[in-house]
Amino acid sequence: MAPTALYEDESVGRRLEEISDAIDEVNVLKAKAKAKEDAERQAQIEAEYDAKSQFDAAKDKTQFRQYETAISRVKNFYREQHEKQTVAYNLAARNWFHSAARVRPELTVWEAIEKLDTLVDESDPDTSLSQIQHLLQSAEAIRRDGKPRWMQLTGLIHDLGKLMVFFEGAQGQWDVVGDTFPVGCRFDERIIYHESFAGNPDSTHPVYSTQYGIYGPGCGLDNVMLSWGHDEYLYHVVKDQSTLPPEALAMIRYHSFYPWHKEGAYRELMEPKDWDMLKAVQAFNPYDLYSKSDDVPKVEELKPYYLELIDEFFPQKKIKW
Ligand SMILES: [Fe+2]
Ligand SMILES: [Fe+2]
Repeated sequence: MAPTALYEDESVGRRLEEISDAIDEVNVLKAKAKAKEDAERQAQIEAEYDAKSQFDAAKDKTQFRQYETAISRVKNFYREQHEKQTVAYNLAARNWFHSAARVRPELTVWEAIEKLDTLVDESDPDTSLSQIQHLLQSAEAIRRDGKPRWMQLTGLIHDLGKLMVFFEGAQGQWDVVGDTFPVGCRFDERIIYHESFAGNPDSTHPVYSTQYGIYGPGCGLDNVMLSWGHDEYLYHVVKDQSTLPPEALAMIRYHSFYPWHKEGAYRELMEPKDWDMLKAVQAFNPYDLYSKSDDVPKVEELKPYYLELIDEFFPQKKIKW
């Protein structure tokens, strides 16, 4: 693959942030819809004692329609992502990442955070929080809950893979952000906007369109090629350059794999240890999704704490990206 530099225009950073935020919004709405479904189920149980709960259930459908209308922008994004994330592209992206000819920029983790944040310096601060704020909010929420230091650090770095837009590792937004899914086997119907896979040539491929495709039952997620994006990229960057535990690496690699960690798809590809990884990713998800409404973190006040935390798990300081 010969990636093209598509990010000369300053407005691209803004667009990336907008689409990324819109995708997060949809995932929040999906989670809300699920919570409302659960509430409806509970309401049905309670209806045996109190009919008023049925009225609440009727309101929920209105909420669901609002969710449907809020997503047109995201829908277009996913159409492109679903059409272009093929086995062929995935192999090309992985070859690019591991290519000896690739010049890998060297930055410390904090430098990487600051670089990613420049994407948002150029955008409207009123519309969304910046990347550094999202990363610090995730980390701070994990810290407040008394979770381990490695998990706090995972919150701090989990989206740094978006840096690939600066390093010419991306073709467009469709291979950086958005939910992820395996390529090389049938696209599960629980993937959001599943219908848009109709335009993906792999969906009619004689092998790739079968349930297991190029994989086998219980082959393990380590052996599954997930669609290329910021999760997969960062996982490959940090797995050999940090002392983070496997659970942290799973949180990074699978945090956008919603069809799996939220919808229950692809369980047939899991090996026993993947169940522990699933537990880890599910434990991480609320801090990614729901911390955005927290107070805006004071970067300079928090920086010393996180610099020490970074040093603890990235002993060689400069990271090859
Ligand atoms: Fe992410
Ligand atoms: Fe995130």
